[in-house]
Amino acid sequence: MVAESGTAVRADLPHRTMPRARLTVTDVSKSFSGRTVVDVDSLTLGDHPIEGLIGPNGAGKTTLMRLIMGSLKVDSGKIRLEREGRREIELSRLPAHKIAQSGVVKSNQVITDFEGLTILDSLLLSVTPARREHPLHLAGERATYDEHRAAIERQLDDFGLEDSRRVALSAGEKKLVDIIRCLLLRPAVLLLDEPTAGLPGEVTRKVMDAVEKLAADGTTVVIIEHDLAVIWRLCAQVTFMAEGRVLLRGEPSDIREHKTVVESYLGQGHV
Ligand SMILES: Nc1ncnc2c1ncn2[C@@H]1O[C@H](COP(=O)(O)OP(=O)(O)OP(=O)(O)O)[C@@H](O)[C@H]1O
Ligand SMILES: [Mg+2]
Repeated sequence: MVAESGTAVRADLPHRTMPRARLTVTDVSKSFSGRTVVDVDSLTLGDHPIEGLIGPNGAGKTTLMRLIMGSLKVDSGKIRLEREGRREIELSRLPAHKIAQSGVVKSNQVITDFEGLTILDSLLLSVTPARREHPLHLAGERATYDEHRAAIERQLDDFGLEDSRRVALSAGEKKLVDIIRCLLLRPAVLLLDEPTAGLPGEVTRKVMDAVEKLAADGTTVVIIEHDLAVIWRLCAQVTFMAEGRVLLRGEPSDIREHKTVVESYLGQGHV
C-alpha cells in the first residue's frame, strides 16, 4: 500500500503515560547450523505503548520473539524484563514457563491446532491457573472458573464467535482464538507475530482496537507485521531488522524516510 509520508502516523498515542514493562536485549545472538539468524547488540522495547518490528522474510523477527519467550534459548547475550516496583528479571536465564509466569505472552505466527478442544475449552484451559489438588481450594476454583468463563464469553461475543462450543474451524478462526487467548491473559508484555495475516479486514480492525485498548491500559505491545499500514497507524516506535540485525529504529516517519532501504527489502508496494 502506498501512503503519503506522515498521513497515517498516530501522533496521539500516549508516550510513557504510565509505568510500562520494558524488555532490554543486549548482545543477543542465535545461530542454526552455524548460520547466525539473530545478532542484536542493543534493543529496548517498551518505551512506547505499541512498538513495531518489521523486516523482510527471514530477518529473524520471529526468532527474536521466540528468544524473548524462551521457546528458543539464546546462544549468548541477555534479555531482561523491567517492571515498575519489581525486581528486574533476566528472562534469558529462565525456562519458558517461568517467562510466561512473569507476564510475557506471545501470539503465534502459525497456528497448528487445538487438538479437538472446543473454542471455549481451549481458552478456559489457557487462562485458568493450574489446579491445586486440595478440597479447600475447590470452592475458590469454581468461582475462578465462572469468572474466567464469563470474561471469555464476553470477549468471544465481541469478536462475533458466539458459538464457542465447537472446535475452531478455519485458520483465521484459530488465529483469532489465539489472539483472544493473549488478550484474556492481560499480559505485561504482549508480543504479536503477524496478528492480522489471514484475518478478514473487519476482524483485523476489531483485533487492533482490542490491542490498542490493552496498550492504553498499560500492556507493552510489540507487533511484527508485514502490513505496514497497521504498523504506521499503531506504533510510536518501529524497529527494522534484516539478516538478524537491527538496521533502523525510530518513529514511523523516520523509518518511512528510509524508503529505499525498506523497499529494497520489502519490495515496491509495501511502503
Ligand atoms: N528452528 C529453526 N531451525 C533452523 N533455522 C531456523 C529455525 N527457525 C528459524 N530459522 C531460520 O532463521 C531465519 C530467521 O527466521 P525467522 O522465522 O525468525 O524470520 P522472520 O523475520 O520471522 O521471517 P518471516 O517474515 O518470514 O516470518 C530464517 O532463515 C529461518 O529459516
Ligand atoms: Mg516470522
